Amino acid sequence: MQIISLSNALCAALKKQTNIGFVPTMGNLHAGHIHLVNLAKQHSDCVVVSIFVNPLQFGANEDLTNYPRSLEADCEKLKAAGCDIVFTPAVAEIYPQFTQNNAGMSLNQTILIQPSAIANDLCGASRPGHFAGVATVVAKLFNMVQPKSAFFGKKDFQQLFIIRELVKQLNYRIQIMAGETVREASGLALSSRNDYLSVAQKQQAAELNQALQTIAAEIKVQNTEFIMLENSAKAQLNATGWQVDYVTVRSALSLLPASQADKHLVILAAAKMGNTRLIDNIELSR
Ligand code: PAF
Repeated sequence: MQIISLSNALCAALKKQTNIGFVPTMGNLHAGHIHLVNLAKQHSDCVVVSIFVNPLQFGANEDLTNYPRSLEADCEKLKAAGCDIVFTPAVAEIYPQFTQNNAGMSLNQTILIQPSAIANDLCGASRPGHFAGVATVVAKLFNMVQPKSAFFGKKDFQQLFIIRELVKQLNYRIQIMAGETVREASGLALSSRNDYLSVAQKQQAAELNQALQTIAAEIKVQNTEFIMLENSAKAQLNATGWQVDYVTVRSALSLLPASQADKHLVILAAAKMGNTRLIDNIELSR
């Protein structure tokens, strides 16, 4: 396995590859990421994983500085999983204006990809600019890696939706493939941010998934009072100490609020436990 931090060196290493599978990450890898690497291995001849904590997708009061970084352990996991190349660029490699302007480290001069209105809803409503940061870095990484396929987890359902739209709108010839959410036995979706939780919080965190399961079970028995179901889940979570951002039933095809006619639904939630913001979702067809 090669570890490469310069994009020119990456380009040289990938020159002869025609079937590259790409897994973009921000590191602190867990079984969910390794599941994506395994999927990439099944579909590609050469697997590239990027590890880059993207400053552009963090808000001013978010956890960029303290975001968990564990490069050595990540590389060991990737080697064991059969990854071919780990791409670990510095900020100035991705955002070249930093080399001229690194005194202030301002990202204001970056060309931004502005995703469509859905990027301002759900997680985008409380994290303004987040998805523009994600779309911009993913577009840059796609240009550097030039993969045939790229792999994203379904846990970040809105992100996956926005990336699919990005690929369509910018005419990338890249197949976007989705990996199922990997969970703890309790149902808690794996996330790098779970590391911020205390043991007690981690046990309680499974409530987020349980709230989604309760709504799904109601919908399956034909209770389609979506707003009532959402409000009841929010009230229950808030009552046990969560600070709920949203619990919402959406069309899985448009991410717009679900109508009675929608057959393919996704129930999404974001809530804070202490200072840790967790997200989860489940899809269901009816
Ligand atoms: O899902 C993530 O880890 C990040 O948002 C991504 C896609 C690697 C972009 O920085």
